This record gives sequence, C-alpha cells and structure tokens, in this order.
Amino acid sequence: MTDKNTKKQLPGILRFLIRLFQIILYIPIQIIFIPFAIIGLIVGIYKEMGKSKKLGVSFSAIKALQYRWIMHYFNTRPDHLSVAFTKKFPCESHFGLWSTMGALIISQRLFGFTTRLGKLVEPGEETLDSTAGIRVLMFDKIMEKYVDEMEQIVLPGAGFDLIALQLTKGGKVKVFELDQVNTLNVKVETLKKAGIKHDWVTYIPVDYANESWVDKLLEAGFDKTKKTLFLWQSVSLYLEADIVKEALRKMADLCVDGSIIAQDFYSKAFLSGEISKLAKRNMSMIARMGEPSTFGIDMSDDPKAAVESFLKECGLKMTEYIQFGEKLDIEPFYCIVEAEKL
Ligand SMILES: C[S@@+](CC[C@H](N)C(=O)[O-])C[C@H]1O[C@@H](n2cnc3c(N)ncnc32)[C@H](O)[C@@H]1O
Repeated sequence: MTDKNTKKQLPGILRFLIRLFQIILYIPIQIIFIPFAIIGLIVGIYKEMGKSKKLGVSFSAIKALQYRWIMHYFNTRPDHLSVAFTKKFPCESHFGLWSTMGALIISQRLFGFTTRLGKLVEPGEETLDSTAGIRVLMFDKIMEKYVDEMEQIVLPGAGFDLIALQLTKGGKVKVFELDQVNTLNVKVETLKKAGIKHDWVTYIPVDYANESWVDKLLEAGFDKTKKTLFLWQSVSLYLEADIVKEALRKMADLCVDGSIIAQDFYSKAFLSGEISKLAKRNMSMIARMGEPSTFGIDMSDDPKAAVESFLKECGLKMTEYIQFGEKLDIEPFYCIVEAEKL
C-alpha cells in the first residue's frame, strides 16, 4: 500500500493533527534558515538574472534546470547529474537553492512534511502547478521508451537538460543537441568543470530564427537514412508560429519510417494569461529576460483535434496524445504528443 493511500485512510482529525505537528516542527527549522535564505536569494537572483544576461544564456533553460534540481531534492525524480551540473553552473546557485528551500527539504525528509514541491499527481490530474515537474517525467519516459530502438536522437533546444547523458552513455545511439550559441557553450564548459562525461554527444550551436538548423545538423553528421527520435521539449512556445511550422516540416523531412517526433504544446489561453495569473507572472519574467512566449494552439474547443490538424499541416501524423489535467474540470492548457511522418 502506498504512503498516499495510507494517509487517505487516516481519519480527518488525525491527519489534521499530524499536519499541525509537522508545521510546528518545520517553523523553527525555517527560522534557522532565514539568514541563509536572504543571502541565498540575493546570490541566486544575481546568478540567474545578472550573470545569465551577461553571458547571454537562456533564462527559460535555467528555470527548467532549476526544476530538475528541485525534483531531485524533493524526491520526485533523482537526478545526480543536474545537481553536479548546478554546482558548477555560473547562472545558478546551488547554495541559493539550498538556503531558500533547505528547511522544506529537511522537513520532508525528517518527518514527512510534504508541500506541493514534493508531490506528484496522478495522470490526468495535472494542474498548472504540477506541469513543470510532470512534463519532465513524461519526456524522460518517452526517451526511455525509444532509446534502444533509435539510431539517432536529436534534442533541438536542449538547454541544460541532461537526460541524453543519463540514458545514452555507453550506447550505440548517436546524440545531437542543438541550442543557441551562448547557452550551448556555457553548457559544455559547465559539463567539463563538473567532470561530467559528454564526449559522445555532438553539440550544435544554432539560432532557429536566423540559421538553417537542418544544414548544421547534416554538417555535424546526422544521417537521413537512420531511425531518429526528435525530442522537442518546451521550445516551440518561444518561437513564432511560422518558425514552429517550418521546423516541424523539416523534422518530418528528416524522418525515415519508424522515426518519432515528441514535443509539447501550450494553449493560446494559457499563453495569454487567461488561465492563471501566476503563470502569466512567470511568463512575463521570462519575457523580460528576452524570451517571450509566442506560440500556442487554440485548445478551447477540441484540443486533440486542434493539435492533430496542426501537425497534419506540418506533414505529421499524431500517434500519441497526452492532455494534462484531462480528468479535471479545467480548460485544456498543455499537451505532450508524439508524431511520425505522414
Ligand atoms: C524552456 S527551455 C527548454 C530547454 C530543454 N528542452 C529542457 O526541457 O530543459 C527552451 C530552450 O529553447 C531554446 N531556444 C529558444 N529559441 C531558440 C532559437 N531561436 N534557436 C535555438 N534555440 C532556441 C532556448 O535557448 C532554451 O534552451
């Protein structure tokens, strides 16, 4: 029986008392952490916003790495590589993250005081809060599902995602990661500093908006006759619609039978901020750092059909469709899909 089920079966009053007791234990730990948290916050903001701007590193990619760090320490997804990476990464502070979240991490580990950071929801019950974490887990699963059967894996807009390093080490599959020049250069430098082996991955700097990523991929040794997995995680929302369409059409052109393109889409309503004020605030912050969210799909009517028809326009057939929050009475806001060449 899972811990969650056991807790559900406890009488309400007992659950309330346990929670109260946990809060009473948590408060002094949090008080001890306050001075460190203040310093950590200042260091963290300086590195995430100041240093990243100076180095021209993608802020949205930093945020995605931060979430992987959080998931590791809150026991929802082990990721030692991302932690080792963060420790040497110039645009994030391991100390800053620990000092701001340490009291919660310790309280969860010592006496089970769980906040939303340490909880995973059931499939179909994803909310906006849980999306950042669940999406990472779902893309991990896609990668795990295909890693042994594919001959090539391409991550366009890989950011600081280290899943390819985790799952393809020692394997036969060829891996290509593309991202903007500065982001990718800082990634490789940080991998070296952290002593993380990465020599089997080909890193290709590119700007989708102004360069042909296909030419660069082919120059780097991509083989059009080989079965390929494209993993396009949370990139399209930062691109203009015509660039998204063109990128997908080109991916379709590069696919032989059995190749898969996995990606995610946000709804237009989500991007406009109609669905959540908090999400709107986060997107505005990322936009102020130079990455406005631009591309979404109208999911207000029949989201599955809308995504399917968009993919069709790009020469793709949808083979898998996962809509977040499908079991909840909420407006569709996000989905992960797999597709193959039409
Ligand atoms: C939210 S991050 C996602 C990173 C990674 N896929 C992950 O899940 O952690 C978006 C990524 O898209 C990249 N990106 C956005 N616009 C781009 C462009 N025009 N050319 C190349 N990469 C771009 C950013 O540099 C960033 O790494």
